[in-house]
Amino acid sequence: MRTTFLLNGSEITADTTPTTTLLDWLRGHPGLTGTKEGCNEGDCGACSVMVTDVDGARALNACILFMPQLEGKAVRTVEGISAPDGTLHPVQQAMIDHHGSQCGFCTPGFITTMATAHLNGDTDHDTALAGNLCRCTGYAPIIRAAEAAETAPVPDHVKDIPLLLAKNTSGGPKAGIAIGTPLVRETMAMPPTTLGTLATWLDQNPGGTLIAGATDVGLWVTKQFRDLGPVAFLNRIPDLSGVTVTEDDIRIGAATTLTDLHNAIAPRHPGFAELIRRYGSVQVRNAATIGGNVANGSPIGDGSPALMALGATLHLRSVDGVRTLPIEDFFIDYGKQDRAENEFVEAITIPRQYDALRCYKLSKRFDQDISAVCGCFWIEVVNDVVTEVRLAFGGMAGTPKRAAHAETALRGQPWTDAIVARAMQAMSRDFQPLSDMRASADYRMQTAQNMLLRAWLEDQGQATNVLEVTS
Ligand SMILES: Cc1cc2nc3c(=O)[nH]c(=O)nc-3n(C[C@H](O)[C@H](O)[C@H](O)COP(=O)(O)OP(=O)(O)OC[C@H]3O[C@@H](n4cnc5c(N)ncnc54)[C@H](O)[C@@H]3O)c2cc1C
Ligand code: FES
Ligand code: FES
Repeated sequence: MRTTFLLNGSEITADTTPTTTLLDWLRGHPGLTGTKEGCNEGDCGACSVMVTDVDGARALNACILFMPQLEGKAVRTVEGISAPDGTLHPVQQAMIDHHGSQCGFCTPGFITTMATAHLNGDTDHDTALAGNLCRCTGYAPIIRAAEAAETAPVPDHVKDIPLLLAKNTSGGPKAGIAIGTPLVRETMAMPPTTLGTLATWLDQNPGGTLIAGATDVGLWVTKQFRDLGPVAFLNRIPDLSGVTVTEDDIRIGAATTLTDLHNAIAPRHPGFAELIRRYGSVQVRNAATIGGNVANGSPIGDGSPALMALGATLHLRSVDGVRTLPIEDFFIDYGKQDRAENEFVEAITIPRQYDALRCYKLSKRFDQDISAVCGCFWIEVVNDVVTEVRLAFGGMAGTPKRAAHAETALRGQPWTDAIVARAMQAMSRDFQPLSDMRASADYRMQTAQNMLLRAWLEDQGQATNVLEVTS
């Protein structure tokens, strides 16, 4: 399969299998081996590259990025961060000045991530670099280097214009950008570009693998060495991406990335946005889609509990049309979802409503970690009485699941500590959690119960967030 894209400013065409990762491809090309392989599963950032498309530049992990996902985009590896005449990029110079590198294995990934944040004017360095691990230097010099480079002008050579801008929703190409060569058009024909062609493809290839952000599917290839069979890439279907607010609801296209969802949802449901900030790292959020997060049915995915608490509806499309269902009905059992082999997730809608959402993520690390328990609550209190309640958890059962008994204990009752204590007790009838490497069953139950207590305490105005405690 041929992919045409800009690599460090030059147009190239690569002929690879559909599931060749960018990292593997780079590592096979002398002169492009600055990009490093650490974990090969999206966890360390050693393989970070800058990718620019219609939506701008973002850092991505090359190890779980398949070549066809790059069609028409611009890629900048660490070799393309300094100017063509060898002048160092401001973040490179700052890393030298502030002693930001020892063994240097992590450094190429830090440089590309820092250069991307610098280009975007992003000065939240802790967040921007949470997906880049360094084992020897320590983060203080690296953060100092990022701060020192903040005010330096962005060098022109890193302001890439992607080779091919995807058609915008009005149907035409964006102005000012030339559509590529016949070769580009030929490769465009392979992945579906409309909902209809995807539905037809899936009907003809029932059970075929859909690839959205590849933050799960990438690992099936790099860690499990699976042959995926027929694959369809979802990143070129405009109607599958983006967040639209109507009078009644907020419609989230299944292929909307977690980064875009974060930005769109933050003003309406800041608790959801804060949960997304704890989701993987910048590189993971820039790739992962909310549709993939729901469709994989993971009991420890973070998106589903929040969407369940918000009362979301799932829209599944096939050649037969669109079917809708409440999102909690989608999760039948561990590894089993209510999705026919020829259906795909088209969108998720949540009602437009005032904000009563609280989300709590418990994981061993603050950044870049999978939840041991994730609790998301919608609790509506009118005149001190609970009028509506949805309590949804990840990590407590084989699927994301609502706490029906606890909800019953709260609904219609006064919003008091005694009733909350009763609901916490009732939760033990809702779940029989497992013990695993992330948490024991007892710990999971106790922390899930305490999340509800925390919601009540916060509602009473008590500070509970230890990260907000200052000395
Ligand atoms: C380093 C790292 C950190 C992570 N951290 C977190 C975390 O903190 N919280 C969390 O919840 N998850 C986390 N994940 C898991 C992962 O990011 C999510 O599950 C992700 O949202 C999957 O989305 P994707 O677009 O990458 O899906 P893909 O990998 O492309 O696909 C995942 C599955 O969904 C299917 N699929 C994708 N889109 C559709 C669709 N529209 N319709 C039907 N099926 C579809 C695919 O066929 C596949 O079976 C992490 C992953 C990595 C690698
Ligand atoms: S090699 Fe670790 S994130 Fe890619
Ligand atoms: S300098 Fe050695 S891992 Fe960062």
